[in-house]
Amino acid sequence: MIGRDLFSAGTVTTHSTVRYGLLLILKHPEVQAKIHEEIGRVIGHNRLPSIKDRQDMPYMDAVVHEVQRFIDLIPLNVPHAVNRTSISNNISSPKAQQYSHCSPQCCMTRKSFQG
Ligand code: HEM
Repeated sequence: MIGRDLFSAGTVTTHSTVRYGLLLILKHPEVQAKIHEEIGRVIGHNRLPSIKDRQDMPYMDAVVHEVQRFIDLIPLNVPHAVNRTSISNNISSPKAQQYSHCSPQCCMTRKSFQG
């Protein structure tokens, strides 16, 4: 069951992120060129990439984050609920009430990302 959960949670999300990322860098060849340069400089041609390379690849890291912000893959996220009635910022959340957030509000606003 856990294996199936991880597989289903990880497959479409990763696949769609990579697919959209490839489409986006096709549209922005100057970004593709910088990624290519960084991969060549940090990883080279004689070994496989490793998770440790991430710290030396700030441009690639930023591009992945930007792809995730731009595609906003799961805009309503999954519903969350509080397990007891709670008050935060004078707003009361009754026990078991379900909430979804709406990420376009934070991912796409000029104030958050361009200001
Ligand atoms: C780009 C790839 C991925 C995206 C965009 C993504 C997105 C998300 C989101 C939005 C949630 C809900 C988080 C929340 O509760 O607020 C989530 C949860 C989860 N994801 Fe992913 N995910 C990705 C990759 C993966 C992979 C590769 C795996 C497994 C190997 C995975 C396993 C899970 C699991 C198990 C949860 C539930 C965690 C919990 O219940 O606390 N995800 N993911």
